[in-house]
Amino acid sequence: MNVISIKIPVKITLFGEHAVVYNKPAIASTIPVFINILGRSIKEKKLIIEFNDINIPTKKVVLDKITNTYVLVPNEIYISRFISYIATGLDICKNELQITDEGGYEIRIESTLPIGAGLGTSAAISVGTIALCVLLSYNKDVEDPSIRKIIALLAWKTEQKVQGMASPMDTFTITYGGLRYIKPWIPEAEYINSPNQLNIIVGYTPKKFTTAELVKNVKNLKVKEEKIIEKLLDIIGEIVEEARDAIIKNDVERLGTLMNVNHGVLEALGIVSLDHSYIIKTLIAAGALGAKTSGAGGGGAFIALAKNKIHATLLKNIAEALGARIVAMELYEKGFIINNDSSRVLKDLIV
Ligand code: MEV
Repeated sequence: MNVISIKIPVKITLFGEHAVVYNKPAIASTIPVFINILGRSIKEKKLIIEFNDINIPTKKVVLDKITNTYVLVPNEIYISRFISYIATGLDICKNELQITDEGGYEIRIESTLPIGAGLGTSAAISVGTIALCVLLSYNKDVEDPSIRKIIALLAWKTEQKVQGMASPMDTFTITYGGLRYIKPWIPEAEYINSPNQLNIIVGYTPKKFTTAELVKNVKNLKVKEEKIIEKLLDIIGEIVEEARDAIIKNDVERLGTLMNVNHGVLEALGIVSLDHSYIIKTLIAAGALGAKTSGAGGGGAFIALAKNKIHATLLKNIAEALGARIVAMELYEKGFIINNDSSRVLKDLIV
């Protein structure tokens, strides 16, 4: 049976996280760190999910779709969360695209990143699941803009359903790839033409809360201090506009300053962890042009802007000495792609 293999980059938010949930613009980009999703349709009404390369003991989970019960049970919280994005994505895809096929799916996830890295892993899983479902049912060209749009929208819907609240930023960025100016009110992810590669480092520390929890914390704060928090969200929106201008003009010093200011507002929103406060301050003391938490916060991802490549290596060493894991030192140009070597895995997938 036909096996589809999809290579999906994860992402960072350069500017605008949290405010983007309230319809402010944001800037995000894919990075060259990938998750592979492989899958095929099966006759049985089951969802079989295998995990490869993830540093967790569960290797296989089987969900019986007739009784909606697990035959093989997920025994870690991370795995349960991975599964909820996959199962929800498949349900949404089947309903929205009116796929009547009664069978199930066998899916393999290959990733070295924990879902709690704050790098959009859940969005990558959602995009990959929807793309897989679309491709297995319709032999469409995923380079076709209307197909990409459907995948981005359904993946966004998946995140909204699992998390309660989600902006289109992560799913749109991962679908289209490259540096993107997000307009959630449309929704659209406009390509930003950056004249030079930015000298960045991207790292993470363990994320102690889920994105849903962190988004809810900001919402609760907004209920308590409506006027002030609305002003802070407006300021983030303005930082994003300035940052877009700085990127286009290649004004990296200004871009760094804007990163620091954006980080300060995220501190005010209460989502920056203690280890990030320390890492960000240390990187700035070491000459970073700017540094900030990236994404939902509570630990998770951070980025720093270096003066040049050598300086970036210095910042990397410092962040690692402080306990962070550095995963990328550049942005990536593309969104998800279809791997052409699917035959390699056909024999490995166990039904
Ligand atoms: C999470 O990667 C980014 C947030 O802005 C949430 C969202 O945009 O859905 C915190």
